[in-house]
Amino acid sequence: MSRRMISVLAAALTFSTAAFAGNISQEEYDAIAERIKPVGDVYLAGAEPVAAEPSGPRDGASVYGTFCIACHASGVSGAPKTGDAGDWAPRIAQGRDVLNNHAINGFNAMPAKGSCMDCSDDEIIAAIDHMIEGL
Ligand code: HEC
Repeated sequence: MSRRMISVLAAALTFSTAAFAGNISQEEYDAIAERIKPVGDVYLAGAEPVAAEPSGPRDGASVYGTFCIACHASGVSGAPKTGDAGDWAPRIAQGRDVLNNHAINGFNAMPAKGSCMDCSDDEIIAAIDHMIEGL
């Protein structure tokens, strides 16, 4: 679009806004509402909710890569860092059940299921295994 066209458009917009200020008919109001209403549950291609297709259990690496990595890769809010033995030692010392329970139900800044609400408990546990394997 040329500069000139942009300024003509801008002028037109300014004019029309001024012309209708405080004087918008119900019809115009409805038209505006229709034009700018939120897209609601229309999803952009490729952004469909993950839950849409049941596809069997995800493995630990993919659950981790989708949901846990954001905090656990760099240690956001004190999250124990993936593969960091120093971070994980005191956590692991609590026992597997405590660890699993905290990951599944949430613990301080750790959101329940790492915010993967459609993850099964087993998928969460697989993601924990992925974070601590090889320590
Ligand atoms: C929004 C950031 C965030 C996300 C996303 C997140 N975590 Fe965490 N997680 C934390 C924080 C912060 C802690 C430390 C909480 C504390 O000790 O106070 C933590 C702690 C943990 C612990 C240790 C709990 C304990 O008892 O010491 C486990 C296990 C864990 N997370 C698993 C996961 C898994 C699995 C995922 C992905 C499915 C995940 N987390 C996603 C922030 C996050």
